Amino acid sequence: MLDYKLLDKISKEVGNSFYILNESNYLKNITDLKNAFLKFHDKIIIGYSYKTNYIPKLCRLAKENGVYAEVVSDMELDLAFKLGYKPEKIIFNGPLKKEKDLEKVLLGNGIVNIDSFHEVNLLKKIVTRNAEAKISVGLRINMSLIDENGNSTIQEGLKYGRFGFEDSDENLGKAIEIIRGLGVTINALHGHTSSSDRSLKNFGSIAKTLCRVRNKYNLNDIAYFNVGGGFFGPMPKGLLNRKTPAFEEYADTIFSVFNDDEWFANNKPYIILEPGVSVVSNALSYFAKVMDIKKIRSKNFLLIEGGIYNVKPTMHRLNLPFKVFSKSIKNTSLKFDVVGSTCMEKDVVLSEVEISGVSVSDYISIENVGAYTVVKTPEFINYIPAIVSIEKNEISIVRYKQNLSNVLQQYNLNA
Ligand SMILES: Cc1ncc(COP(=O)(O)O)c(C=O)c1O
Repeated sequence: MLDYKLLDKISKEVGNSFYILNESNYLKNITDLKNAFLKFHDKIIIGYSYKTNYIPKLCRLAKENGVYAEVVSDMELDLAFKLGYKPEKIIFNGPLKKEKDLEKVLLGNGIVNIDSFHEVNLLKKIVTRNAEAKISVGLRINMSLIDENGNSTIQEGLKYGRFGFEDSDENLGKAIEIIRGLGVTINALHGHTSSSDRSLKNFGSIAKTLCRVRNKYNLNDIAYFNVGGGFFGPMPKGLLNRKTPAFEEYADTIFSVFNDDEWFANNKPYIILEPGVSVVSNALSYFAKVMDIKKIRSKNFLLIEGGIYNVKPTMHRLNLPFKVFSKSIKNTSLKFDVVGSTCMEKDVVLSEVEISGVSVSDYISIENVGAYTVVKTPEFINYIPAIVSIEKNEISIVRYKQNLSNVLQQYNLNA
């Protein structure tokens, strides 16, 4: 059970701010997601989205639990190999795959989703070099996602997404023709599209488009329909002020489309999901020591060591759920801005929150910081904090606090 005493003990070992990893939340989310989809179809593959949080321990836990690695760059691919992944358990996405990486994953029978004609051209070279090999690729399909009011729900309200092939003769049609001409099998269609609302309707559209494209081009070797990530996971109360879909509702929406498709019903391809946010958000909490409390022009500020880059590097305005761990019980309650120890005015971790019974040296936790935080924290002003996990009151270090030699290691100090 986390309390002031335990946090103080951790802080003495790793510094005044740190993350605590909750492995069981992460594994439960993955299991819940898979089970929700297994109710509708028995061929489900989960690929964990490395970009969302590639703490090696999380990636290793995924591997131990039969989860594929979903990677989008040479760095992420190198990490998957380093953790012992074989190409056949790797889903290789992303807009700019390197030729040597593409070749390695293709020849090892990984699931590769080609994103552009640039990659089709790399494929040509790889096929020429490996005339004997039997090569299969997937294709990423560019999606249009529209809400009930006719507005695009693509991330940031963008009208058009930039990934994959648009279904037209000169785009997707041409890519299919070239790939078929190379004697390469098309075994997967990929529809991941990051949205601003994570709605059920988006997933209905993605599933419909995958079926429509498969039927239109007679892609009879499709073994995988990949609907991507972008789901909501378990949400902390009050964060969004609206109900968000459960895993089973996403599954229901997706399979009500797939099951209506005759080819799908007869051929039963695998369905691939690529969760990030939905499985890892509540796997990490951030803890920081209260270093100072001050009042300026009638506003109360509570200063922590660390700051906004450790909890929301995207600088969104939502106040994440928080808790205070006090050394002693106090009853005073005040409204605070919780601010970080960078010198940026906008380093506001929590804005205008009512906090009771807090004083200097207490700890404050910010919950649900598992997605797009540790991977996006810049090396800026402060050392990057440690990550720990706790099993039966035993603290183990998952990531060490950064030090000066870590900061300097990439620099040539003689330059
Ligand atoms: C190809 C792909 N798959 C999966 C994901 C994971 O999405 P999320 O973290 O929203 O679940 C992303 C995120 O951008 C992605 O680009």
